[in-house]
Amino acid sequence: MKWKIAVLPGDGIGPEVVAQAVKAVDAVCRKYSHDVEYTHALVGACAIDATGDPYPEETHRICMGSDAVLFGAVGDPKYDNDPTSKVRPEQGLLAIRKKLGLYANLRPVETFPSLVDRSPLRKELVDGADFLCVRELTGGMYFGEKGRKDGGDTAWDTCIYSRSEVERILKLSFEYACRRRSHLTVVDKANVLESSRLWRQIAMEMAPSWPDVQVDYMFVDNAAMQLIRQPKFFDVLVTENTFGDILTDEASCISGSMGLLASASVGAHTSLFEPIHGSYPQAAGKDIANPVAAILSAAMMFEYAFGRMDEGRAIREAVAASIMEGIVTEDLAEKGKPAFKTSEVGDWIANRI
Ligand code: IPM
Ligand code: MN
Repeated sequence: MKWKIAVLPGDGIGPEVVAQAVKAVDAVCRKYSHDVEYTHALVGACAIDATGDPYPEETHRICMGSDAVLFGAVGDPKYDNDPTSKVRPEQGLLAIRKKLGLYANLRPVETFPSLVDRSPLRKELVDGADFLCVRELTGGMYFGEKGRKDGGDTAWDTCIYSRSEVERILKLSFEYACRRRSHLTVVDKANVLESSRLWRQIAMEMAPSWPDVQVDYMFVDNAAMQLIRQPKFFDVLVTENTFGDILTDEASCISGSMGLLASASVGAHTSLFEPIHGSYPQAAGKDIANPVAAILSAAMMFEYAFGRMDEGRAIREAVAASIMEGIVTEDLAEKGKPAFKTSEVGDWIANRI
C-alpha cells in the first residue's frame, strides 16, 4: 500500500517527538512493504511567524489531500501571558479540527505493567485500567459565541450543542462500547447545564437501540473523582469538549506520564493523530521529551486511518518492549538509572520494529 501522510510538527517539542513517530512509521512500512509519502506543513506559532496565520490555507490543502495527518503540538509562551494577542497558535489546532470536521477525539488510557509504580495513584488502583475517552471536539465552549462587553470588563463563552452534533458523537461512542466491554459512561453536568440536559436526553433516547450496552450517567465533578478513585470502573467515557479536555489530562496520571497518551481525531475528512500533551516549551530542542505518545499516535494512525491492525500492533509491541527494558526518557526513568534521549528512544523503538 501507499499512503500520503501530512506531517505537522508544530511548535516546542512537536518537531522532536514527531521525528520519532516518523522513524516508527518508516520502520513498520519497511517491515510490511508499504510506501509512504510525507508532506511537511506549518501549523501553530511557527506558521504565524512565517505567514501570519496559525493554520495557513496551504497546510489545509495538504491535509485535505492526505490519507492521515501526523500532528505534534502547538503553543508558545510568548502568547500565553498576552491576553490581548489577536492571533494565537492554539487557533491553528482549533481551525484544523473544525475545517477537517474532526468531531471525535479518541483518547485511550492504558497502563503498562512495568510502569504501575510510576503512577501517582496506588498500584492496585491503576493496574489493568483500560478505557477509552471519547471527547467531542468541534462544539461546546471552544466554538460557541464568545465576547467582551462593558469596555472589556465582562466576558462570555457559550456552550452550545445541536442535536445532530450530540447524536453523532454518542453513536460513535455506543459503537466503540460494543467493540469493547459494552459499558458506556456519559459524563455531563445535567444538574446545572441546559446543554448537558440535551446530551442526557439524547443519550437516553438512543440507549434502547444498543440493548447490549450498559449505559450510566455521571456528573462531571463526580467523574473527575471516580477517574482516580476507581479508574477500572470505566470502559468508554464520552463527554463534551471542555469536560473532555480536562478529564483526559487528569486521566493521563493513571498511565504514569502525559508523555504516554496518544489520540486520534476522526470525522468528516482526513483523520488526525496527535499526542495529548502540549508543546512543553521548557524542553524544546533539548532532546529530552518523551516521544512515546507521538509514536503511539502513529500506531493509532495505522489502526484507525489505514485499518492495519498488525502494523499498529508492531509499533505498540516495540513501545512496550522499550518501556519494559528501561529505554525511557527522564519523565519515566527510575531513580538512579540513566534517562535516554528522545532520539535514542525513537531509534531503539524503530530498530525493535
Ligand atoms: C488538547 C489541548 C488543546 C485543547 C489546546 C492546545 C487548544 O489542550 O488537545 O487537549 O484544549 O483542545
Ligand atoms: Mn488539553
